[in-house]
Amino acid sequence: MTSEVGKSNEEGVDGGRRHFLLVATTVTGIAGAALTAVPFLASWKPSARAQALGAPVEQDISKLESGSMVKVNWRGQAIFIVRRSPEMMKQLEDPALADRLRDPKSEQSEQPKYAKNDTRALKPEYLVLVGVCTHLGCAPLGRFNPADAELGADWPGGFYCPCHGSKFDLAGRVFKDVPAPTNLKVPPYRFVTDGVVQIGVDAEVA
Ligand code: FES
Repeated sequence: MTSEVGKSNEEGVDGGRRHFLLVATTVTGIAGAALTAVPFLASWKPSARAQALGAPVEQDISKLESGSMVKVNWRGQAIFIVRRSPEMMKQLEDPALADRLRDPKSEQSEQPKYAKNDTRALKPEYLVLVGVCTHLGCAPLGRFNPADAELGADWPGGFYCPCHGSKFDLAGRVFKDVPAPTNLKVPPYRFVTDGVVQIGVDAEVA
């Protein structure tokens, strides 16, 4: 009797241990799976890698000063956003400028429909360009001041590519007699608000 009770108690103790071990193993397994899942899930976050693959990027331009430029990275390439000053706009309106450009109407150049106009922009004040020279892919420099010492008295302001000397105006349109064949590209973009531009998503224009 006593031994039966003792046996029963031992079984109870062993059963309790087994239950404890089973629970402990299960908890450890779940914790291990969770720890393994963290880096796995992290790899799926829309991060720099996703951005490099083409996720849209947003840029706050609310504090961008008139006449200055900010660069954003989208799909591994620089995007130039320029807030054109009234003086810059005046340069673009010069009727003599079109004669100096290879493709003034952007017929052979790459841009969304809503940027195929004289300012190559959704809003004339803001120019958005892919900052990659259409000759061999160097990075053009912003040379916004007219009559730049290096670029000559008739320089109206624009972009200059130091690799082989291509020149573009303040709408990214290529000048004649330089190696670049077409205007700088305009990426798809839209204004999320007046102060935020999103690159990589087309504007909805009627
Ligand atoms: S890469 Fe710009 S001029 Fe050649």
